[in-house]
Amino acid sequence: MAMAAVKWSVLFLSVAVVAPVLRAADPVPDEYWQKRAEEAQKANLEAYNPNPLDVTNSLNLHVHDAVKGTNGTRRNLAKYTGPCLATNPIDRCWRCDPNWAKNRKKLADCVLGFGRKTRGGKFGRFYVVTDPTDNDMANPKPGTLRHAVTRNVPLWIIFARSMIIRLNQELIMTSNKTIDGRGANVRITGGAGITVQFIRNVIIHGIHIHDIVAGTGGLIIDAVDHIGFRTRSDGDGISIFGSSNVWIDHVSMSNCQDGLIDAIMGSTAITISNSHFTNHNEVMLFGASDSYSPDQIMQITVAFNHYGRGLVQRMPRCRWGFVHVVNNDYTHWLMYAIGGSQHPTIISQGNRFIAPPNVAAKEVTKRDYATPDVWKNWLWKSEGDVMMNGAFFTESGFQGQNLHLSKQDFITAKPGTYVRRLTRFAGTINCKIGKPC
Ligand SMILES: *[C@@H]1O[C@H](CO)[C@@H](O)[C@H](O)[C@H]1NC(C)=O
Ligand SMILES: *[C@@H]1O[C@H](CO)[C@@H](O)[C@H](O)[C@H]1NC(C)=O
Repeated sequence: MAMAAVKWSVLFLSVAVVAPVLRAADPVPDEYWQKRAEEAQKANLEAYNPNPLDVTNSLNLHVHDAVKGTNGTRRNLAKYTGPCLATNPIDRCWRCDPNWAKNRKKLADCVLGFGRKTRGGKFGRFYVVTDPTDNDMANPKPGTLRHAVTRNVPLWIIFARSMIIRLNQELIMTSNKTIDGRGANVRITGGAGITVQFIRNVIIHGIHIHDIVAGTGGLIIDAVDHIGFRTRSDGDGISIFGSSNVWIDHVSMSNCQDGLIDAIMGSTAITISNSHFTNHNEVMLFGASDSYSPDQIMQITVAFNHYGRGLVQRMPRCRWGFVHVVNNDYTHWLMYAIGGSQHPTIISQGNRFIAPPNVAAKEVTKRDYATPDVWKNWLWKSEGDVMMNGAFFTESGFQGQNLHLSKQDFITAKPGTYVRRLTRFAGTINCKIGKPC
C-alpha cells in the first residue's frame, strides 16, 4: 500500500459524474464520500476497546476451553479424511453441524478477537451470486458479486456454484455484508481486489483470493445510488481502509501485486483467522504511515492462520496500534515474520515460528526506522511461542508496563505446541451441503 493519504485526497477532487443511474441524494458526489468517511470514523472510534486485554484474554480462554482434553501436536501431515473435526473455538462454533448450509448465519456468532462484534449481513436476506462476470462498473448486472456488495441493505451473499471471478476494477463493498463462499469453490483472481473503505461490519469467509493486480481506476459504483471516480487501485487482495468490525476467516490468499491484506487509515476491530497465506512478498500491512497517528485506535487479532510456503516478510508489519498475534503457524519466511515502526504494541502468544535456513533471517521480529534506544520502549511481547530452527523473538518494552499489562492481568495462550492442531484446517474448506463441513 503506497501513498494512502494521497490517494484519499485525490478522491475528493476531480469528480464529474452524470450517469443516468445516479440518484444520489447529494448532488456533488464527493460529498457522499465525505459523509461516508465521517460516519465511518465515528464508528471506528466507537469500535475501539480501551481494555484490549479483555479481548486477548477472552480469546485465550476460549482456546483453552476448546482444546481441553486433547493432546496438542499430532504431526499428521496427511490430508484429513476423518469425521468433522473442529480444532479451535471459532470452528467449533459452527463447523460440524451437518445443517451448516441451512444455518449459515450461525457463523456470524462465532467470531472472537477484536472483530468480535462483527455480524456482517446477519440481519439481512440472502443474495445468491449466479453470474461470475464483472463487465459493467457503473450499473452491474443483478446476480453479480458487484451488484450484491453495493446494495444498501444488509446481505448474506452466497454463491450458486463454483466460479472464477475476475474483477474488472476494485470491488467496493458497503456496510453490513457477508461474503460466504462455503459450498462452492469461489476464486477471485486475475483482476482487481476487494476494497473495504469507510464502512463497517463485513465478513469475508471461505473464498480464494489470488493473483490480484492493480485496477486502472475510473468510474465505479460504490453504493446503490452512487458512482464515484477512483484512481488506480494498488493490487491488494483485501484493502481495509478507515473501516471497523471486519472479520476475515478461512480465506486462502496468494500472490497479489501489492499486499495480501492491508488495514490502514484508522481501521480497527478486525479479526483475521483460520486463513492460509502463500507465495507473497509483503503479506500484511497494518498502518501505512508513521505520521498517521489516528492509527493508534487500530486493534487487530491475527489467530489460527497458517503462514505457508513462499512468504517473505510482513506477517504482519504494524504501526501505532495493538496487534494480538496468537496461535498462528509460521512455517516459512525469507526475511522476517513480524515487524513494525512507530511503537505498535505486539502481543505474540502461542505461535509456532520455524525459521528459514538462512542464518541472517532467524529473527522473527524486525524494527524499522528506530534505534534500540527508541524501540526498547515499544511493548513487543512473546509468550508461549515455540521457536524452531533457531528462530528468536526480540522482546521490548518493560514486560509488564502500561495498558494495564501487568503479569496478573495476562491470561496465557495455549502454547505453540498446539498450533498444528489449531491451524490444521486453515484456508478454505471444502464444505458439502448436507454434511458436516
Ligand atoms: C495423550 O497422550 C498420552 C500419551 O500418549 C495418552 O496416554 C493419553 O491418553 C492422551 N490423552 C488424550 C486425551 O488423547
Ligand atoms: C448496518 O446495520 C445496522 C444494524 O442492523 C444499522 O444500524 C446500520 O445503520 C447499518 N449501516 C449501514 C451503513 O447501512
